[in-house]
Amino acid sequence: MEQIMKSQTDSNKFQKALLEWYQKNKREMPWRSKPTPYRIWLSEIMLQQTRVDTVIPYFEKFFKHIPTIIDLARTSDQDLLKLWEGLGYYRRVINMKKAAIHLVENNNGKLYDNKKDLLTLAGIGEYSAGAIASIAFQEKVCAVDGNVLRIMARLYGDYGNILQPTVSKRFTDMVEKLLPDSSIGDFNQALMELGALICTPKSPDCIHCPVMNFCIAEKSMLQNELPVRDKQGVRRKEDKTVLIIQFKNRFAITKRENRLLEGLWEFPVMDGHHDKDEVIETIEKWGMKVLSIAAVKKEKALFSHIEWDMAGFHIMVNNKCDGMTFEAADKIVDEYPIASAYQKYISELL
Ligand code: ADE
Repeated sequence: MEQIMKSQTDSNKFQKALLEWYQKNKREMPWRSKPTPYRIWLSEIMLQQTRVDTVIPYFEKFFKHIPTIIDLARTSDQDLLKLWEGLGYYRRVINMKKAAIHLVENNNGKLYDNKKDLLTLAGIGEYSAGAIASIAFQEKVCAVDGNVLRIMARLYGDYGNILQPTVSKRFTDMVEKLLPDSSIGDFNQALMELGALICTPKSPDCIHCPVMNFCIAEKSMLQNELPVRDKQGVRRKEDKTVLIIQFKNRFAITKRENRLLEGLWEFPVMDGHHDKDEVIETIEKWGMKVLSIAAVKKEKALFSHIEWDMAGFHIMVNNKCDGMTFEAADKIVDEYPIASAYQKYISELL
C-alpha cells in the first residue's frame, strides 16, 4: 500500500480541507440545525436503512408528536408504528421505545452520553453508537458505514475486501487515526456527506473533491475498481453444537446426507450454540436418557465458503436410540470416514 498522510501535518491538512468543504456544502437536515441528543438518536435510527430524503418528513412528524425520551417511553406500540408506517424495519422503533423505557428507569430519561453505554441500548450497534456519541456528545470515536469504507479504500488505494470483517476493522482503525481533536461530530458527518455527494459508488465527482490531493485512487485512476466487495471471499459463519454421545464404551455417529461433506460420518450435531439444558432436552427428545453432561473444547472448521464455530458436549446416556450408529472408539477411528471438521473432537473418544 502506498503511503499518504505520512505525517500528522498531512492529517491536519486533510481534516481542515474536509471540514471546510462540509461547512460550505452540507445539506440542511432538521437534526443538524437543532442537534439535541434525542434528535440525533432518532435521526440515526431512522437513517439506518433509509435515505436522507425519505427520512426528513418522517423525522419532523415523529418529533412533533413525541418530543422527548419520556414521551417515547409512554407512547403505545400502535401509535409508534403508525408514525413509522412506510419507513419499514419496524423493529427499529420498538427497540427505541425499549431503550427509552430503560433510560427513564435508569438515567432520568436522558440519553447516555458515551459510546460504551449507548451500545448497551436496544437497537444501537457499533455504527449508530459511534455516530450518536460523536455528533451529540463530541466523543472522539468514529462512525464507519459503507460510505466511509468506500472512501478509505479509495483514499489509501487499498484492495482489501470490505465485506471481510478483518478488512473493515483495519479501515476503521485508519479512520480512527484520522479523527481530529475537536469537531468530531462534524468530521464524521463530513465523511458521510462526502460519500453521499462526491465519493459516490459510481462516477465519483473527483474534480470537486476537497481531499482529491490525498487520494491514491484519484492519482492512479482506480476509482472504479475500489472498493473491492467480494461476496465470494467471505465465509458465512455458522454455529454448531457437536454432541459426543457415549453409551457404555460406544459413541454415536451418523452419516451426513446434506450436500456439504455428504457421505462422510459425523457426531450428532445441533445447529446453533446451545446450553446444557437445551442439549439434554434434545437428546431426550431423540429417545435417550442422559446420565451426565460436560462441555468440551470449542473448535473452528473452515470450508471454502462457510466457517463453523463449534461448541461441544460429552454426554453419557443410559440407552441407545434409533437412527444413530453406536461404535467403539477404535472402530470409528479405523473404519469410518469422519469429516475433518469433527476430527478435532476425536480426542474426546480416546
Ligand atoms: N447517514 C447516517 N447518519 C447520517 C448523518 N448524520 N448525516 C448524513 N447521512 C447520514
